[in-house]
Amino acid sequence: MIAFVLLLVAFATCCCAGAPHGLETLLVSSYNDGNETSGFVRALRAAKISHDSWDLTTVFSDPTSCGRSPSWLTLDEKRGILYCLDEGLDTPNGSINTFKITRGRHGKIEPADNKETVSGPVSAVLYGPKHKQFLVAAHYTGSAVTTWETKKDGGIEYGEVFDFEMDAPGPDPDRQDAPHPHQAILDPTGKFILIPDLGADLVRVYSFDGKTGDLTAQSPLVAKPGSGPRHGAFFTWKSKQCKKGCTNFYLVSELENTVTTYSVAYGKGGNLTFTETAVISTFGDGPTPDGAAAAEILVSPDHRFVTVSNRNDTSFAIPEGANVQLKSDSLATFSIKSDGSLKFENLASAAGSFPRAISFNKKGNMVAVAHQYSKSLVLLDRNPVTGFIGGELARMNDLGNLTSVVWG
Ligand SMILES: *[C@@H]1O[C@H](CO)[C@@H](O)[C@H](O)[C@H]1NC(C)=O
Ligand SMILES: *[C@@H]1O[C@H](CO)[C@@H](O)[C@H](O)[C@H]1NC(C)=O
Ligand SMILES: *[C@@H]1O[C@H](CO)[C@@H](O)[C@H](O)[C@H]1NC(C)=O
Ligand SMILES: *[C@@H]1O[C@H](CO)[C@@H](O)[C@H](O)[C@H]1NC(C)=O
Ligand SMILES: *[C@@H]1O[C@H](CO)[C@@H](O)[C@H](O)[C@H]1NC(C)=O
Repeated sequence: MIAFVLLLVAFATCCCAGAPHGLETLLVSSYNDGNETSGFVRALRAAKISHDSWDLTTVFSDPTSCGRSPSWLTLDEKRGILYCLDEGLDTPNGSINTFKITRGRHGKIEPADNKETVSGPVSAVLYGPKHKQFLVAAHYTGSAVTTWETKKDGGIEYGEVFDFEMDAPGPDPDRQDAPHPHQAILDPTGKFILIPDLGADLVRVYSFDGKTGDLTAQSPLVAKPGSGPRHGAFFTWKSKQCKKGCTNFYLVSELENTVTTYSVAYGKGGNLTFTETAVISTFGDGPTPDGAAAAEILVSPDHRFVTVSNRNDTSFAIPEGANVQLKSDSLATFSIKSDGSLKFENLASAAGSFPRAISFNKKGNMVAVAHQYSKSLVLLDRNPVTGFIGGELARMNDLGNLTSVVWG
């Protein structure tokens, strides 16, 4: 167990109005990459040096408590609990691991609980009423969804397991050999859980019982065959046409490199219906590079833009030394029009290879990019007014195959 004395900035900054200016904390996870004993969970402190430069330092590093394949982090800021999923890439099972975070001057991050689970958990989200929180996880390799009861001290108890099967492989038999749940998302009403399933070309939909956390399957969103839905993001807005509020769901499909917009209606019977309104490439009007695989999708904190990370498109290069050019993938930005539709704006350099995870800070003036292949965590400058993602503010290399990043 590692009791680590965080500098007072570390977790005191996260939710109090008095957060020191120019200091932020990031939590990152990475797989072991064959050359390390295990996968890492780290806390990095970002300190502002000047208007275009930040300094990153490691303030916490744990190589053992989240197994060998940490794939995803979910932070419960209110209760000070960090959930880390271990995908179990080289073990028969995955695991769910928790850390208790103590804030303040002598703040620390300590392992709290860990439970073995179905193979391949890659994403999770908290759900349930405020006083009672449950966790639902999407298991890619294990073709399953699991639920967990969470405790204030960081303890977790197994809830339900849903196993999925397919009669035949999908149109892309290599990637769609079986159902592959890829993300767990809570809808804006906090009443429905969505699980994009890359293998089955579905978004599975569940309602739940707030007392027990038990899920009830609703009619799924059926995506285009072979598209490979991976991640999604909700957007709600009000306008003349939507006096009571409208809801869109933007779904990114990894195999097709598209974002599909669905208009969401809430039925009386506790049911969601999705109406497809548009499909747009994650490369705008440009061609889709061979081997490209879209990954993350986020609505910006200013609610005016959507950003998608493209992996393996090598649309950019970053200079390194005299003759070596490192290939860099891209971040696609779309503006959200007044009717909720998306307009492609531009591609920006992701400043590294395989940007599996991206995260905006609360102000929306920075994007953290976690690169799975170039093993770098980079902070990029972002203009919250134009949505434009620009230059590199900070970089930390040699972090292993990064999988997840959240702002603390
Ligand atoms: C393994 O890590 C060490 C120390 O970081 C480094 O010197 C070595 O080149 C690495 N080996 C491989 C095969 O990546
Ligand atoms: C571990 O994996 C095995 C084989 O897939 C599975 O049968 C078992 O249920 C898993 N354990 C847990 C706790 O989920
Ligand atoms: C849910 O929606 C589907 C499709 O609109 C409909 O067929 C079904 O009857 C609805 N179920 C409930 C419980 O309302
Ligand atoms: C990346 O794309 C290239 C084609 O440009 C392809 O050969 C390669 O398999 C892709 N890599 C991955 C990991 O998907
Ligand atoms: C880790 O990154 C290297 C490239 O640096 C890549 O070849 C390897 O497949 C990655 N491993 C995983 C498990 O992501």
